[in-house]
Amino acid sequence: MTDHATLYAAHLRELMRRADAALEAGGFDRLLIAAGVEKFQFLDDRPYPFATNPHFKHWLPLDHHPDCWIAYTPGQKPVLVYHQPEDFWHLPPADPAGVWVEHFDIRIIRSPAEATQHLPPAAGSAILGEADAALPGVVPNNPEAVLNRLHWLRSYKTAWELDRLRAAQARAVRGHRAAEAAFRAGLSEGAIHRAYLAAAGQRDAGLPYGNIIGLNEHGATLHYQVQDETAPAESRSLLIDAGASVDGYAADITRTYGNGDARFEALIAAVDAVQRRLAERVRAGQDYPALHIDAHRALAGVLNELGIVRMAPESMLETGVTSVFFPHGLGHPLGLQVHDVAGFQAGPEGGRIERPQGHPFLRLTRTLQPGMVVTIEPGLYFIDQLLAGLKAGPHAGAVDWNLIDHLRRYGGVRIEDDVHCTAGAPENLSRDAFAAAA
Ligand code: GLY
Repeated sequence: MTDHATLYAAHLRELMRRADAALEAGGFDRLLIAAGVEKFQFLDDRPYPFATNPHFKHWLPLDHHPDCWIAYTPGQKPVLVYHQPEDFWHLPPADPAGVWVEHFDIRIIRSPAEATQHLPPAAGSAILGEADAALPGVVPNNPEAVLNRLHWLRSYKTAWELDRLRAAQARAVRGHRAAEAAFRAGLSEGAIHRAYLAAAGQRDAGLPYGNIIGLNEHGATLHYQVQDETAPAESRSLLIDAGASVDGYAADITRTYGNGDARFEALIAAVDAVQRRLAERVRAGQDYPALHIDAHRALAGVLNELGIVRMAPESMLETGVTSVFFPHGLGHPLGLQVHDVAGFQAGPEGGRIERPQGHPFLRLTRTLQPGMVVTIEPGLYFIDQLLAGLKAGPHAGAVDWNLIDHLRRYGGVRIEDDVHCTAGAPENLSRDAFAAAA
């Protein structure tokens, strides 16, 4: 096994190669990357949770370091301007430590404005960051030609990134196992969430997205954001879509559990089987939109086999019936951001591959290649708003509404894994982590 320091060193060399090519293509001499600044609530001195510029996190495993900068000039050691204020109200960042330190020329600053003394001239620089990270004379310009190339290449994970993504999976799986136990003990959504955080060893603000923890009917709200503190009288089902972060890299995993009801358990088993088959198809050369359409086909098969909708799967797909039960996309790219960049990008220069018509929520339209990490997250839900349209439409007669009335009390089923596309068989990061934890 390659050690951490070697993996990081190779990762950084690769990023420098990528930056060299992107700068040349964009006609720039240097790359400056702002970590970002803390943002404060309106008329208040309370900051929002800090979110690091993902380009900064790509170079450095530093996720809570506002007002830092990276300056990279091809052929030279990168400079890290490290903001370490003297502050007795808040804990300042620790002294630089870790596998990355030897690879940077580190300049400690005590106030954000001092950064300009250590940054190279802005003229000729591609400056990546949000507008509010600007310093006098150093204003982010985010050139499209540079960003497009860097975003395109971010789809192809280095060995260091895969290692961090695996670590994030292990962390999330610890949370998922504790959450399942909390569900089985009949706890509230809020208590399940806290059990998750404690086991994952993660604060809310460190999560890559807000945990989705839906008991019973709440599982039908795709991104259910409320964490009810009152336990329901009966905990029939749990849909938990929850992730974790390690060094800025995200895990994004969904599981659904029932309470033994045969019809809902059959639905979970069927969606799980479909999900496993789709995850097996994360292979080089696979067109992702085609996989998404096949997911519709397979889920139509489930609806038919379980007697929920008595229609031929192909007609369910053609008439949009499957979208009533599976209204979101099959998945998305994953990495430094939970919905990682370049999901629609046509090539390193940019361009866009549109979604297939009738599938407005698909977030990935590219062809899979080795190094990509994507989610595979089919689901079947009983969403009142969408079912009302089906009931009023021409296919209402094909639906077993009594069965739907039974199943809607369980909300829905989503099963989601994070899968690494390799040159051969896929690496299912999530299932591997569950197996290791068992
Ligand atoms: N799993 C949460 C999301 O994709 O937004």
